[in-house]
Amino acid sequence: METQIFDKSELDKAVDLLAKGELVAFPTETVYGLGAIATNEKAVKGVYAAKGRPSDNPLIVTVADEAMMEKYAKEVPQRAKKLIEKFWPGPLTILLFAKEGALPTAVTGGLKTVAFRCPDDQLTHDLIAKLQFPIVGPSANTSTKPSPTTAQHVYHDLKGKIAGIVDGGPTRVGLESTIIDLSVETPIVLRPGEITPEQLSEALGEEVLINTGKVADKDIPKAPGMKYRHYAPSAPVVIVDDPDDFAKVEYTEQVGVMALGSILKQIDLPEQNKFNLGENLVQADHNLFNGLRYFDDKANIKQIFVQGFDEGQTSLAYMNRLSKAAAGHHFEK
Ligand code: TXA
Ligand code: MG
Repeated sequence: METQIFDKSELDKAVDLLAKGELVAFPTETVYGLGAIATNEKAVKGVYAAKGRPSDNPLIVTVADEAMMEKYAKEVPQRAKKLIEKFWPGPLTILLFAKEGALPTAVTGGLKTVAFRCPDDQLTHDLIAKLQFPIVGPSANTSTKPSPTTAQHVYHDLKGKIAGIVDGGPTRVGLESTIIDLSVETPIVLRPGEITPEQLSEALGEEVLINTGKVADKDIPKAPGMKYRHYAPSAPVVIVDDPDDFAKVEYTEQVGVMALGSILKQIDLPEQNKFNLGENLVQADHNLFNGLRYFDDKANIKQIFVQGFDEGQTSLAYMNRLSKAAAGHHFEK
């Protein structure tokens, strides 16, 4: 299959392909998603196959607006309305009980809940509005690889496996959406993202828990995807929590470093061994996955040292993704 890349003037071609049950990747403000019409079981199964994703890891349902969501949710509680009012369209995924029989079980992995997301991206909004059906939207990467923040990343992973990619340029945030579960008594953040638990708690006017992995149910992990290996480049990743420790690393030609520009310039390594995360945490969020992919393509790099951040709730999302990429390894010396 030849994978076509569409620009914004060719949106109708992407709509036609989706309507026929083909797979088309699309931009969002967080990362690129892999779309298929959510009501078409065969198309949805194709998404698992293209990504190499385990079938018990349910998919996000991407909607154009709240009205579209209402057709697939059992009910939309007051809490959800508050969050939608404040944060949609935007990088917040909301877990609600599913309307029975409205979506194929392949979407929900057999769970009673569905994850709804309404991205802040005009192209994708228009795509779904024209299609008149929601599309599933897992990140458009090969399973275990870093999520794609450009159309080129998607092409790298999925060329020949999907019909098309809508190219909306690099994504703004760079890390996936915050996921909040509203199907439980006390709302709980299952995956941190740009929107922090504090912001959610303020909008709701009530306590919001954070899933540290310990709060989860004994049997089913609350966000099934979180149990899988993720974001991992081929070379092992080590987190450097204290910027002063970059001076203690033993640098060789086989070492890669990802850090803020101010730190990189003090490190004596060839430019190709360095990846600049930018000037601050917001830019580091934006660049993290791109950097992990950069080193993944370099066979000579055997170890990657990546700067950690400790900036309260605003660094939760970055550290969550980085910890997964590093399998929990921190620099110690
Ligand atoms: O920013 C995002 O959310 C991106 C863009 C493309 O929208 N999408 C994304 O999808 O990150 P994905 O599939 O890579 O991650 C979704 C996570 C997975 O960990 C999955 O297990 C969890 O959401 N999830 C989906 N449905 C769920 C459900 N019903 N209950 C619990 N977790 C669910
Ligand atoms: Mg993903």
